[in-house]
Amino acid sequence: MAERVRVAALISGRGSNMLALSEHRRRDPDRAYDIVLVASNVPEARGLVLAKRLGIRTWTLSHKGLERGDFDMKLDAALREHGVEVVALAGYMRLLSPEFVERWPARILNIHPSLLPLHKGLDTHRRALLSGDEYAGCSVHVVTSELDAGPVIAQAKVRILPRDDAESLAARVLEEEHRLYPAALEEYCRALREGGIRD
Ligand code: GRF
Repeated sequence: MAERVRVAALISGRGSNMLALSEHRRRDPDRAYDIVLVASNVPEARGLVLAKRLGIRTWTLSHKGLERGDFDMKLDAALREHGVEVVALAGYMRLLSPEFVERWPARILNIHPSLLPLHKGLDTHRRALLSGDEYAGCSVHVVTSELDAGPVIAQAKVRILPRDDAESLAARVLEEEHRLYPAALEEYCRALREGGIRD
Protein backbone atom coordinates (compact mmCIF):
# COMPACT_ATOMS: atom_id res chain seq x y z
CA MET A 1 0.00 0.00 0.00
CA ALA A 2 1.14 3.56 -0.72
CA GLU A 3 2.38 5.70 2.13
CA ARG A 4 -0.27 6.56 4.65
CA VAL A 5 -2.00 9.93 4.30
CA ARG A 6 -0.76 12.44 6.87
CA VAL A 7 -3.79 13.83 8.70
CA ALA A 8 -4.06 16.68 11.21
CA ALA A 9 -7.01 16.75 13.60
CA LEU A 10 -8.20 20.24 14.57
CA ILE A 11 -9.90 20.49 17.95
CA SER A 12 -11.20 23.08 20.39
CA GLY A 13 -12.35 20.94 23.31
CA ARG A 14 -12.55 17.45 24.76
CA GLY A 15 -11.31 15.71 21.61
CA SER A 16 -13.29 12.47 21.71
CA ASN A 17 -13.56 12.34 17.92
CA MET A 18 -9.84 13.05 17.59
CA LEU A 19 -9.25 10.12 19.92
CA ALA A 20 -11.50 7.86 17.83
CA LEU A 21 -9.64 8.92 14.67
CA SER A 22 -6.24 8.22 16.17
CA GLU A 23 -7.18 4.90 17.75
CA HIS A 24 -8.71 3.58 14.55
CA ARG A 25 -6.77 0.55 13.36
CA ARG A 26 -3.75 2.00 15.13
CA ARG A 27 -1.77 -1.18 14.92
CA ASP A 28 -2.94 -2.17 11.44
CA PRO A 29 -0.16 -1.72 8.88
CA ASP A 30 -2.75 -1.52 6.11
CA ARG A 31 -4.53 1.54 7.45
CA ALA A 32 -4.73 4.46 5.04
CA TYR A 33 -3.90 7.37 7.34
CA ASP A 34 -1.97 8.51 10.39
CA ILE A 35 -2.87 11.39 12.70
CA VAL A 36 0.45 13.20 12.65
CA LEU A 37 -0.64 16.41 14.36
CA VAL A 38 -3.38 17.64 16.68
CA ALA A 39 -3.84 21.40 16.44
CA SER A 40 -6.02 23.66 18.54
CA ASN A 41 -7.07 27.27 18.86
CA VAL A 42 -7.67 26.64 22.59
CA PRO A 43 -4.40 26.05 24.48
CA GLU A 44 -6.25 24.47 27.43
CA ALA A 45 -8.29 22.05 25.29
CA ARG A 46 -8.54 18.69 27.00
CA GLY A 47 -7.95 16.89 23.72
CA LEU A 48 -4.40 18.25 23.62
CA VAL A 49 -3.60 16.39 26.83
CA LEU A 50 -5.03 13.19 25.34
CA ALA A 51 -3.02 13.66 22.15
CA LYS A 52 0.22 14.17 24.08
CA ARG A 53 -0.47 11.00 26.06
CA LEU A 54 -0.75 9.14 22.78
CA GLY A 55 2.56 10.58 21.65
CA ILE A 56 0.99 12.68 18.88
CA ARG A 57 2.60 16.04 18.11
CA THR A 58 0.51 19.05 19.05
CA TRP A 59 0.34 22.67 18.00
CA THR A 60 -1.66 25.34 19.75
CA LEU A 61 -2.18 29.06 19.53
CA SER A 62 -5.00 31.06 21.06
CA HIS A 63 -7.01 32.83 18.38
CA LYS A 64 -7.80 35.65 20.83
CA GLY A 65 -6.60 39.03 19.65
CA LEU A 66 -5.74 37.74 16.17
CA GLU A 67 -7.59 38.46 12.94
CA ARG A 68 -9.19 35.29 11.59
CA GLY A 69 -7.06 35.37 8.44
CA ASP A 70 -3.84 35.87 10.39
CA PHE A 71 -4.59 33.03 12.76
CA ASP A 72 -5.46 30.74 9.86
CA MET A 73 -2.22 31.52 8.03
CA LYS A 74 -0.23 30.54 11.13
CA LEU A 75 -2.25 27.35 11.36
CA ASP A 76 -1.67 26.72 7.66
CA ALA A 77 2.09 27.15 8.15
CA ALA A 78 2.11 24.65 11.04
CA LEU A 79 0.17 22.10 8.99
CA ARG A 80 2.58 22.41 6.07
CA GLU A 81 5.58 22.20 8.37
CA HIS A 82 4.28 18.81 9.50
CA GLY A 83 3.66 17.61 5.96
CA VAL A 84 -0.09 17.40 6.53
CA GLU A 85 -2.16 16.32 3.53
CA VAL A 86 -5.69 16.15 4.96
CA VAL A 87 -7.27 18.21 7.75
CA ALA A 88 -9.95 16.57 9.89
CA LEU A 89 -12.05 19.01 11.90
CA ALA A 90 -13.03 17.27 15.12
CA GLY A 91 -14.97 19.64 17.33
CA TYR A 92 -13.09 22.65 15.94
CA MET A 93 -15.37 25.46 17.08
CA ARG A 94 -14.13 28.15 14.79
CA LEU A 95 -15.04 29.23 11.30
CA LEU A 96 -12.21 28.87 8.80
CA SER A 97 -11.42 31.84 6.59
CA PRO A 98 -12.24 31.44 2.86
CA GLU A 99 -8.50 31.87 2.11
CA PHE A 100 -7.66 28.88 4.29
CA VAL A 101 -10.37 26.72 2.75
CA GLU A 102 -9.16 27.65 -0.74
CA ARG A 103 -5.65 26.47 0.15
CA TRP A 104 -6.97 23.01 1.06
CA PRO A 105 -9.40 22.11 -1.74
CA ALA A 106 -11.13 18.77 -1.03
CA ARG A 107 -8.61 18.26 1.77
CA ILE A 108 -10.69 19.31 4.80
CA LEU A 109 -13.32 17.04 6.34
CA ASN A 110 -15.69 17.77 9.20
CA ILE A 111 -18.05 15.76 11.38
CA HIS A 112 -21.34 17.47 12.11
CA PRO A 113 -23.87 16.13 14.62
CA SER A 114 -26.97 16.18 12.41
CA LEU A 115 -28.31 14.59 9.28
CA LEU A 116 -27.17 17.34 6.92
CA PRO A 117 -28.59 19.30 5.18
CA LEU A 118 -30.83 19.43 8.27
CA HIS A 119 -29.73 21.52 11.26
CA LYS A 120 -26.54 23.22 10.16
CA GLY A 121 -24.70 25.24 12.80
CA LEU A 122 -24.94 24.86 16.57
CA ASP A 123 -27.49 23.33 18.96
CA THR A 124 -28.40 20.56 16.53
CA HIS A 125 -29.91 18.06 18.98
CA ARG A 126 -32.31 20.52 20.55
CA ARG A 127 -33.39 21.62 17.10
CA ALA A 128 -33.91 18.03 15.94
CA LEU A 129 -36.14 17.44 18.97
CA LEU A 130 -38.09 20.67 18.48
CA SER A 131 -38.66 19.86 14.82
CA GLY A 132 -40.24 16.53 15.75
CA ASP A 133 -37.71 14.63 13.61
CA GLU A 134 -37.91 10.85 13.70
CA TYR A 135 -34.14 10.51 13.32
CA ALA A 136 -31.09 12.45 14.37
CA GLY A 137 -27.55 11.47 13.41
CA CYS A 138 -24.23 12.68 12.16
CA SER A 139 -22.63 13.53 8.84
CA VAL A 140 -19.07 13.63 7.57
CA HIS A 141 -18.67 16.21 4.85
CA VAL A 142 -16.03 17.92 2.78
CA VAL A 143 -15.54 21.49 3.98
CA THR A 144 -16.23 24.35 1.60
CA SER A 145 -16.42 28.05 2.42
CA GLU A 146 -20.15 27.76 3.21
CA LEU A 147 -20.85 26.52 6.76
CA ASP A 148 -21.75 22.80 6.97
CA ALA A 149 -22.72 22.82 3.30
CA GLY A 150 -19.98 20.84 1.49
CA PRO A 151 -20.63 17.42 -0.06
CA VAL A 152 -21.66 14.77 2.47
CA ILE A 153 -19.54 11.61 2.22
CA ALA A 154 -21.03 9.52 5.05
CA GLN A 155 -23.98 9.57 7.45
CA ALA A 156 -25.26 7.55 10.38
CA LYS A 157 -28.82 7.72 11.67
CA VAL A 158 -29.96 7.52 15.27
CA ARG A 159 -33.63 7.05 16.12
CA ILE A 160 -35.05 9.72 18.41
CA LEU A 161 -36.76 8.11 21.39
CA PRO A 162 -39.86 9.58 23.10
CA ARG A 163 -37.95 10.29 26.30
CA ASP A 164 -34.91 11.86 24.67
CA ASP A 165 -33.63 15.25 25.70
CA ALA A 166 -30.76 17.04 23.95
CA GLU A 167 -28.24 15.45 26.27
CA SER A 168 -29.33 11.82 25.91
CA LEU A 169 -29.60 12.25 22.16
CA ALA A 170 -26.15 13.87 21.93
CA ALA A 171 -24.64 10.93 23.81
CA ARG A 172 -26.09 8.35 21.40
CA VAL A 173 -25.14 10.40 18.35
CA LEU A 174 -21.60 10.79 19.70
CA GLU A 175 -21.20 7.01 19.81
CA GLU A 176 -22.11 6.92 16.12
CA GLU A 177 -19.70 9.78 15.39
CA HIS A 178 -16.88 7.72 16.85
CA ARG A 179 -17.71 4.86 14.49
CA LEU A 180 -18.52 6.90 11.40
CA TYR A 181 -15.68 9.43 11.29
CA PRO A 182 -12.70 7.02 11.33
CA ALA A 183 -14.36 4.80 8.73
CA ALA A 184 -15.19 7.75 6.46
CA LEU A 185 -11.69 9.24 6.83
CA GLU A 186 -10.14 5.86 6.10
CA GLU A 187 -12.17 5.51 2.91
CA TYR A 188 -11.44 9.08 1.86
CA CYS A 189 -7.70 8.70 2.35
CA ARG A 190 -7.71 5.43 0.47
CA ALA A 191 -9.52 7.11 -2.44
CA LEU A 192 -7.05 9.99 -2.28
CA ARG A 193 -4.10 7.63 -2.64
CA GLU A 194 -5.83 5.84 -5.50
CA GLY A 195 -6.30 9.17 -7.31
CA GLY A 196 -10.06 9.16 -6.87
CA ILE A 197 -10.42 12.56 -5.21
CA ARG A 198 -10.57 15.65 -7.39
CA ASP A 199 -9.76 19.10 -6.00
C1 GRF B 1 -19.04 16.61 18.25
O1 GRF B 1 -20.39 16.45 18.55
C2 GRF B 1 -18.87 16.95 16.81
O2 GRF B 1 -19.83 16.40 15.97
C3 GRF B 1 -19.03 18.45 16.80
O3 GRF B 1 -18.44 18.88 18.01
C4 GRF B 1 -18.44 17.82 18.96
C5 GRF B 1 -17.02 17.60 19.37
O4 GRF B 1 -16.84 16.62 20.35
N1 GRF B 1 -18.46 19.01 15.60
P1 GRF B 1 -15.40 16.05 20.67
O5 GRF B 1 -14.51 17.23 21.02
O6 GRF B 1 -14.92 15.31 19.48
O7 GRF B 1 -15.62 15.16 21.85
